[in-house]
Amino acid sequence: MKPPKVVFACASCGSQSPKWLGRCPDCGEWNTFVEERAASAVAPPAQARLGGDGARLYADVDTATAPRITTGISEFDRVLGGGLVPGSLVLLGGEPGIGKSTLLLQAAAQFAAAAGPVLYCSGEESAHQIKRRGERLGVADVPLHLLAETCVEKLLEEVERVRPALLIVDSIQTVFSLKLPSAPGSVGQVRQAATDLLFAAKGRNLPTILVGHVTKDGNLAGPKVLEHVVDTVLYFEGEQHHAHRVIRAVKNRFGAVSELGVFEMTGTGLRPVPNPSQLFLAERPANVPGSAVLCTIEGSRPILVEVQALVSTAAYGPARRTANGLDLARVSMLLAVLDKRVGLHLATDDVFVNVAGGVTVEEPAADLAVAAAVASSLRNRPLREHTVVFGEVGLAGEVRATSQAALRLREAAQLGFRRCVLPDGNVAASDVPPDFEIVGVRSVAEALDELM
Ligand code: TYD
Ligand code: MG
Repeated sequence: MKPPKVVFACASCGSQSPKWLGRCPDCGEWNTFVEERAASAVAPPAQARLGGDGARLYADVDTATAPRITTGISEFDRVLGGGLVPGSLVLLGGEPGIGKSTLLLQAAAQFAAAAGPVLYCSGEESAHQIKRRGERLGVADVPLHLLAETCVEKLLEEVERVRPALLIVDSIQTVFSLKLPSAPGSVGQVRQAATDLLFAAKGRNLPTILVGHVTKDGNLAGPKVLEHVVDTVLYFEGEQHHAHRVIRAVKNRFGAVSELGVFEMTGTGLRPVPNPSQLFLAERPANVPGSAVLCTIEGSRPILVEVQALVSTAAYGPARRTANGLDLARVSMLLAVLDKRVGLHLATDDVFVNVAGGVTVEEPAADLAVAAAVASSLRNRPLREHTVVFGEVGLAGEVRATSQAALRLREAAQLGFRRCVLPDGNVAASDVPPDFEIVGVRSVAEALDELM
């Protein structure tokens, strides 16, 4: 008898090799090859179709029949691009304990009450455990079916029986298919299970949400193909020491990416935070040097955050530069611009920069706020009250226009700010809210004069 054929597969990208390799030749990751039994016939099933028979004329394809179904949780709908699309496959990734199961149970209960039966399939917890959590979340008597099952074939049988309007699978790494001999969580199994669920979702027009584990460096565990298979990839993020959680869309076939949903973890589950600016500015000290309020854009939403800086004499050894929630290389560049173009000498000072509340700001429009916070701390003078700031800074010390100025101004005005220092290039194009002053600046030096 021939021994079963063994292949080695990369856990990161799914690439296969007949022998073990230390480094994947395709994706370059180290130590990701794991042993798998090759299945004799893992060819895609012949009946697998994503709907329709043959090619159709573009003009004949009807798109009006796909209304969004709300999950009943406003911030979750927002990241999905306005609700769940029938037949879509959504992958929700995040670290253990961040609140994935909590959010999905809350969404399942709301959905069941409003839109029809929900099948919540868990390979990680028993129905008892799920119910206990549900009691804590105040889940009422709704058509919510709990299933503790890890075999995808049995799961699909149950889908056939219950005929849910929404399927939730927690988590894709625990599900296995009888078609493959390898263990659950292996590359082949994750891919197979996801593909089976994909065909079920498309074939029945059944919206499906999969939970995905993340590796220790924060990427979704399992083959990269998983991210190609699904329609939407969401990441659940949050700082361990903060109560707020953020869901970010990194891929969405039905909506904007980098869209953001903000939640707060409470004793009775996750609570949507419709106005995150208020949360992030809640503990801002008044009239303290080194604090600037930045109006940043996340996805399509303006958010006000506090950028803090502390400049202190470097007593020992070389000066240190630390950035939390900002790109350190960008901060170093801004310090050099402040030195060379504004004449602020920071070479012998430690500089710490931080975005309060554990938020991460990636857009260059944060530059002017960072420069202002650093200058304010160095001169030990607070910035002017009720003033927000945004703008990109170039190497010549010039301030460059950024996108969506009007949206930022509106958010600032709504939260009671009265004045904004912004790039001169944005002044003409901005609608100024009533009782609001805008000050266009062309250089960092000019901006600092207006702010202090
Ligand atoms: P959970 O949803 O189990 O996380 P995941 O599925 O992402 O691993 O969340 C568990 C954490 O959330 C746990 O540390 C307890 C906390 N929690 C609350 O603070 N309040 C609640 O109402 C619930 C249900 C959980
Ligand atoms: Mg969980």
